[in-house]
Amino acid sequence: MWIKFFRLRPTAIILACILVLVAISTFVFFKDEVKPTVSVGQLQEVLSRSAPESAQLGPELEKSILERIEKGQHTFRYDTFGDEAFWGDTLKLHRAIAGEKLGGVGPGVSPKEALAVGLKVDAEALPKNLVKDLKARKVNLDDPASTLVLLENDAVVGLTGFFDKKGNLSSIGIQCALCHSTVDDSFAPGIGKRLDGWANRDLNVGAIISLAPNLQVIADRLGVDVATVKKVLASWGPGKYDAVLLMDGKGFAPDGKSAAVLLPPIFSLSGINLHTWTGWGSLVHWNAYVANTQMRGKGTFFDPRLNNPSKYPIAVKTGDWNIRNKPDLITPKLADLHVFQLALTAPPAPKNSYDKKAAQRGEKLFNEKAKCAQCHVPPVFSEPGWNMHTPEEMGIDAFQADRSPDNRYRTSPLNGLWTHQKGGFFHDGRFADLKEVIEFYNTTFKLNLTEREKNDLAEYLKSI
Ligand code: HEC
Ligand code: HEC
Repeated sequence: MWIKFFRLRPTAIILACILVLVAISTFVFFKDEVKPTVSVGQLQEVLSRSAPESAQLGPELEKSILERIEKGQHTFRYDTFGDEAFWGDTLKLHRAIAGEKLGGVGPGVSPKEALAVGLKVDAEALPKNLVKDLKARKVNLDDPASTLVLLENDAVVGLTGFFDKKGNLSSIGIQCALCHSTVDDSFAPGIGKRLDGWANRDLNVGAIISLAPNLQVIADRLGVDVATVKKVLASWGPGKYDAVLLMDGKGFAPDGKSAAVLLPPIFSLSGINLHTWTGWGSLVHWNAYVANTQMRGKGTFFDPRLNNPSKYPIAVKTGDWNIRNKPDLITPKLADLHVFQLALTAPPAPKNSYDKKAAQRGEKLFNEKAKCAQCHVPPVFSEPGWNMHTPEEMGIDAFQADRSPDNRYRTSPLNGLWTHQKGGFFHDGRFADLKEVIEFYNTTFKLNLTEREKNDLAEYLKSI
């Protein structure tokens, strides 16, 4: 039968052999290139190159993946979920930004001051004439009026200004992008193309909230005075925020240090079970938590674990464990927001940013002698399964873990570590750099690493 087959289809056989050879050589020569680092941009490019009908995955899907990623990205970048009712109408943050001369209060916030507290400017949102004026230094960066021009053009990452018919700033809302985006500084420091999903470790959220003329509402929620609220906000510093304060009212750890945690990146989170430093829940749980209880958008949120008067007295008092708004401006957006997040991957480390040979040796150490991969399982770098550890297992204090429902720390995914070296490592930034992290593991887990091995491991961490 085989002989017959050979005789009948010689061209087909030759073709098949060529195909197999091409496939094998592609695998051999390019296997190093096949890294799961597709960014949204790349994904869009791939999808747009293929025939339009191939973007439709099947009639059961209402929209193509591409459309859903785009919608999710739009929500992430621009949606306030109606939270201007809190940040503007209630806290009156917009009035502090505009300043007295422009119908607000106080001196106002100039673009220079906005950049100094870590706010970023999306250069691509700026109209051409404004770019020209900026380049010619014709824009007064010390004038709050210029900040309003940026807001009018939707160019301040994570902030949306609302303007009345007379052109006055009448309210302001915030977006996810505020804390989980930065820019590539391609135009000037703090001004450039958006980098979705990166942690903004320059952003001083506490200093920004502190500007708000009406902090009494926050003081009332917490049952303290405004001076205490300001003290807590001032303790956060750049790159940090406390997403549990409005639930448990804890502004400080017992040792007097701030209770805030580092703003994490939100890329390369697909394939990971629990999210946040302390594993509060899934991506979708946390998205709903933040949008409703922190940004104070108008939606629906239910988490009966928060209905616990000894652990979360403020959540019980305010009813934040069971929020029901009508209309619901959040829930309809959660699905596409999730699709967008799943598509975000960590950007690969720049080629010359680490020593390649040392990183290769470091990878071996990570997987073997240093036992890092027992918890940080490549390529997701967290445990497939229940990715949580007690403070005792980690050899660190329990303060932050005990503020979460499971009293544990989640194994941090490590992809793109190089993008967030500012602000330190571990939930509260207790280790200033990767050397300190490795030193900690070496001592706590008695790894007996030599100085060269520690260095190799650090180079590997910078490469993932
Ligand atoms: C004011 C700053 C701020 C804003 C705005 C914000 N986040 Fe976060 N986000 C944080 C902080 C801080 C954490 C870490 C919280 C923790 O672990 O206690 C976090 C954690 C996360 C995580 C978990 C990351 C991980 O490693 O598992 C996700 C996902 C996330 N945020 C998504 C969002 C989305 C989506 C929005 C908009 C709906 C949003 N965030 C708005 C500050 C912010
Ligand atoms: C027992 C499980 C476990 C082992 C083993 C382990 N880690 Fe971790 N790792 C964690 C947890 C949990 C966290 C989060 C700690 C926190 O948030 O305070 C973490 C955090 C980190 C971070 C900080 C990430 C960030 O975004 O700040 C780095 C870096 C890290 N680990 C590297 C390593 C290296 C290198 C090794 C091996 C020497 C290692 N880990 C071994 C569980 C582990």
